[in-house]
Amino acid sequence: MRIEKLSKKQRKVLKFGHSKEFENYNSIICDGAVRSGKTVVMTIAFIHWAMRHFQNASFAICGKTINSAERNVIEKIFSLEDITSYFDVEYIASKHKLVVKNGEKQNSFYVFGGKDKSSYSLIQGITLSGVFFDEVALQNENFVYQAIARTLSQKNSKLWFNCNPEHPEHWFYKDFIQDAKSENRRRSFHLHFLMSDNPILSKEEIEKANSLYSGVFKQRYILGKWVAAQGLVYPMFSKDLITNKTNYFGEYYISVDYGTINPFSAGLWVVCSDKAIRLKEFYFDSKKQNRQLTDEEYYNELLRFSEGYSIKSVIVDPSAASFIQTIRRHKFFNVRKANNDVINGIRLTGNLLKSGKILINENCKDIIREFSLYCWDDESKNDTVKKEYDHAMDDLRYFCTTILQFKPLFSEKKISKKSNYFLNEKELNDYY
Ligand SMILES: Nc1ncnc2c1ncn2[C@@H]1O[C@H](COP(=O)(O)OP(=O)(O)OP(=O)(O)O)[C@@H](O)[C@H]1O
Ligand SMILES: [Mg+2]
Repeated sequence: MRIEKLSKKQRKVLKFGHSKEFENYNSIICDGAVRSGKTVVMTIAFIHWAMRHFQNASFAICGKTINSAERNVIEKIFSLEDITSYFDVEYIASKHKLVVKNGEKQNSFYVFGGKDKSSYSLIQGITLSGVFFDEVALQNENFVYQAIARTLSQKNSKLWFNCNPEHPEHWFYKDFIQDAKSENRRRSFHLHFLMSDNPILSKEEIEKANSLYSGVFKQRYILGKWVAAQGLVYPMFSKDLITNKTNYFGEYYISVDYGTINPFSAGLWVVCSDKAIRLKEFYFDSKKQNRQLTDEEYYNELLRFSEGYSIKSVIVDPSAASFIQTIRRHKFFNVRKANNDVINGIRLTGNLLKSGKILINENCKDIIREFSLYCWDDESKNDTVKKEYDHAMDDLRYFCTTILQFKPLFSEKKISKKSNYFLNEKELNDYY
C-alpha cells in the first residue's frame, strides 16, 4: 500500500521528524478518535526520522503487548511502500527485532509490550535514540517512564506517542497531555485527531462509525475526548428492545452469572440471523428467598430451565470454578468459561444494544430492572461500574463477549479501507 493523500495533521506528523519548525520539541503526542490515521502516519514518520538522523542506533517500538505492536506496527511497516521502497526491512521474530537498512546505514528497532512483564526488565538494559509508543494509554506507566529514561543520555532523541482517550484521571492525560500545555512541557508537540483527519474515510463511513458507539465510548472513540464514564452503563436500552414474541429459532445458549450470597442470574438466548433474543431468565436472590442453593441445586435448576431447548453451550462466570466443575461432571451441557474483560465487554454490549441486535422478552423482569439501575461509579478515578444490580448485566455481557462477538453478523463492523488513494510525487518529495 502506498499513501497517496495525507490530511493536514498527518503532514505535521511527517514533518515533525525533519522540519526545523519542530527542532525544539523532543516529543510528539497524537491522541484522539479511533481509525483517525494516527498509527500509520506515525509509523512512517518514525522510521524515516530514525533513518535520516541515526546510524547503528537502537530504537523501541512499544505496543500494549508485543503481539499488538507486531500486528499494528510491524506488519504495517511491511505493507507500506512508503517504507519498503526506501529501505530494506527485516524482522527477526525470535528476537522481536526489526532491522532497517539503507545502503551502509542500518538501525535496529526492538519491539516491546508495555503491559508485558517481560518487556519491563528487558528494556532496562538498552540505550535508545527514540521510542515509538503506539496506544500508550494502554501501557503500564512504569514501563513508559522506564523506556523514556533509556533515551535520556542520547542526543537528539525523540519520543513518539499515540493513543485513544481514556478516563481524565489517567496518568498519561495528566502528566503528558495536560502538562504539554504548561510551561515546563513546552517541548512536547500535541495533535488531536478526529476521524476526519483520516483522508480515506468517507463521510458515510464516519457517520456509520458514529452510529456504532454510544455513551462514554462515543465521547472517547469518536469525539476523541478524555471523559469520565458517568450515569447509566446502558442508557441506550429502551422499550423498543423489549419483545413479546417467542417464535424465534436458531442456536440456543445459556449465560450464567454465579452467586450464592449474591443473586444468581441465568439467561436463555436464541441467536437467529442478525438478532439475539433473551427468551427467558432464571434469577435467584438468596437473601430474598432466605435460603442458599448448593451447586447441585443450581445445576438442577439449570436442567429445568433448559427443558425443551437444545443448548449449544452454557457460558459461566469464569470465577465460578466449583459450579463449572459441577456442570462438567454431569457431562450433559457443553460449558464455557466466559470472557471477563469488563470494559471491552461493556463497550461491545452497548454497541449491540444500540444497533438493535439484542432483544429482551418482556418476561425477563430482572434484566429489565437492572438496565435501569446499573451505573458507573462516578466517584472513581478510573472506569469502574458500581457493584450493584449487575447480575443479569454480567450474564448478558458474558454472552456478548463469549458468543456474539464471534458471530459474523454481530461482530463490530470494520470501517472499510480503500487502498487507491493518492499523494502526488511532488507532495511525497516535499515530505521525505
Ligand atoms: N493517509 C492515508 N492514506 C491511506 N490510508 C490511510 C491514511 N490514513 C490512515 N489510513 C488507513 O486508515 C486506517 C486507520 O488508520 P490508523 O490505524 O493509523 O488509525 P489510528 O488513528 O491509529 O486508529 P486507532 O486509534 O483505532 O488505533 C488504517 O487502515 C490506515 O492504513
Ligand atoms: Mg492506532
